[in-house]
Amino acid sequence: ESTLGAAAAQSGRYFGTAIASGRLGDSAYTSIAGREFNVVTPENEMKIDATEPQRGQFNFTAGDRVYNWAVQNGKRVRGHTLAWHSQQPGWMQSLGGGTLRQAMIDHINGVMSHYKGKIAQWDVVNEAFADGSSGARRDSNLQRTGNDWIEVAFRTARAADPAAKLCYNDYNVENWTWAKTQAMYSMVRDFKQRGVPIDCVGFQSHFNNDSPYNSNFRTTLQSFAALGVDVAITELDIQGASATTYANVTNDCLAVPRCLGLTVWGVRDTDSWRSEQTPLLFNGNGGKKPAYTAVLDALNSG
Ligand code: G3I
Repeated sequence: ESTLGAAAAQSGRYFGTAIASGRLGDSAYTSIAGREFNVVTPENEMKIDATEPQRGQFNFTAGDRVYNWAVQNGKRVRGHTLAWHSQQPGWMQSLGGGTLRQAMIDHINGVMSHYKGKIAQWDVVNEAFADGSSGARRDSNLQRTGNDWIEVAFRTARAADPAAKLCYNDYNVENWTWAKTQAMYSMVRDFKQRGVPIDCVGFQSHFNNDSPYNSNFRTTLQSFAALGVDVAITELDIQGASATTYANVTNDCLAVPRCLGLTVWGVRDTDSWRSEQTPLLFNGNGGKKPAYTAVLDALNSG
């Protein structure tokens, strides 16, 4: 196959990208994105600040723009993200306790009911664990509402849209030896044991010199899959875009039957949140980089 999406589909997987609504008027961008990818994640448009700028007043203008572009171009959508410490609107940042807990529940219900039946996977909770060696939850206003905020979010999400796969999504959880990875593993194991409705774990996979790719990523993916959840690579970018590392990540997903697919966090290097690291598969002129060919070849021979 000659595109990433079609090549991934040979094994029942997908190859996705983050899409920014502000770039949908750029025909160079949309022609690459339309051709190569078969799943879309809105980069910012379904986040809390975008979808509920005032409490109880939802705004789906930008989210729908990305959603509609995706569907009109034959792509499925990963929703991102319903409960997160970051990109909260001002009104939510200032809440706490039971009021915030209820606002989180209302937010999940409001967004998921708008997109009910339309989203393949939702990142229900994003980035709830701390970096470093503690293995602790990240401090946040949501965490301070009580340790059960994550399971409440998942139970709320399941009821709001039973058709969506519900994912927990985080970064610096790819290396099996890291405390953050083990903490996330313990949470997912506990959720499965207690029947908390979780279907998938998203590994953001923002690899850089501080948190480089390690070949034990495959062990991580296999270990989570063995708990009875699907896994996905959800925000892949690699500082310097080593073709070998991109191929390794692709092969790690292909090696794990429950790995649903890969998503890169942007189309061209110039679209990246870390553009100075040139971490993506296409250069600023839309040209295919060596990493592109490495990924395509891996998908075609996997
Ligand atoms: O839209 C406003 C614009 O109106 C304003 O003029 C401009 C000035 O700063 O800011 C624009 O908003 C920016 C937004 O991206 C859209 O471009 C925000 O400042 C900026 O903070 C925001 O950054 C996003 C970041 O999440 C915020 O946390 C990145 O685009 C997005 O790629 C990044 O994505 C996250 C994932 O959601 C979660 N995992 C990590 C990943 C990378 O940080």
